[in-house]
Amino acid sequence: MLAISNLSKTYANGVHALRGINLNIERGLFGLLGPNGAGKSSLMRTLATLQTADSGEVRLDDVDVLAEPKRVRRLLGYLPQEFGLYPRIDAATMLDHFACLKGIDDAAERAQSVEALLCLTNLWDVRKQKLGTYSGGMKQRFGIAQAMLGRPQLIIVDEPTNGLDPEERRRFLNLLARTGEDAVVILSTHLVADVRELCAAMAVMDKGRVLAHGEPKAMVAEIEGQVWQREIEPTEADHLADGVTLLSTHLNAGRTVARVHSANGAPSGFRATQANLEDVYFAALRNAA
Ligand SMILES: Nc1ncnc2c1ncn2[C@@H]1O[C@H](COP(=O)(O)OP(=O)(O)OP(=O)(O)O)[C@@H](O)[C@H]1O
Ligand SMILES: [Mg+2]
Repeated sequence: MLAISNLSKTYANGVHALRGINLNIERGLFGLLGPNGAGKSSLMRTLATLQTADSGEVRLDDVDVLAEPKRVRRLLGYLPQEFGLYPRIDAATMLDHFACLKGIDDAAERAQSVEALLCLTNLWDVRKQKLGTYSGGMKQRFGIAQAMLGRPQLIIVDEPTNGLDPEERRRFLNLLARTGEDAVVILSTHLVADVRELCAAMAVMDKGRVLAHGEPKAMVAEIEGQVWQREIEPTEADHLADGVTLLSTHLNAGRTVARVHSANGAPSGFRATQANLEDVYFAALRNAA
């Protein structure tokens, strides 16, 4: 288990990126949802020992993550949100090199891991192509392959589905689900669907804080019966009754439909609708504001 307590980080420019994060993350897939600037990457870089924290504690089973970065790195697979690749090197050679760095010293074992990962990420046919010629999605898949080298116990993937086409996204999520069975896997994303389809547990973050966490199904069940919707005039969104929180609006055949949260029965004119994970996400954000 990964146990995070009171983790805080302020950057040199004064931005409080993490404000006392507390989370216990079990093995399996954990989804981290939050808007731009919430602090997801800051949290992930800290867990990946790439930056220090100001205060707090992180333990991965018996490893003190903040005090023993070298031990953590041997157990870690990390896919940053943005990364560069050597453009003139082919994927197979580069992955073999990363495998060496990971400490997979046996050549046969290394060749086997590299081959398996290139197949899993659907890059086998283009393994001899230079990385500089890869499309965005291919680069992303290469990044995923390197993060999975050496059977890591802690896998941190920062917006891994960003830029993948629907088929590759599906392949990747399936791959992550399989790998995640015996590791702690933390996945950040803007896509509620990534979390709904895949994660046993999740947290919603904003402004450096965890606003809500739990099991997706249980979190939806908690607001069941409190979500309402109706067509509105766009200007009405600003004048909702007290105790009614606007969750989201969407267009349906050119008309604006609002979804709202109210724990005290149906607001005037609204009808009941089934709660979903997107409602959970917006309710956490809006009710914290
Ligand atoms: N190296 C840095 N120096 C100073 N401020 C930073 C640094 N990295 C991030 N920040 C600030 O910290 C806050 C959190 O940023 P972070 O990148 O962790 O958010 P995020 O949730 O990953 O956002 P996104 O969804 O856009 O990737 C933001 O206000 C950001 O501007
Ligand atoms: Mg980020």
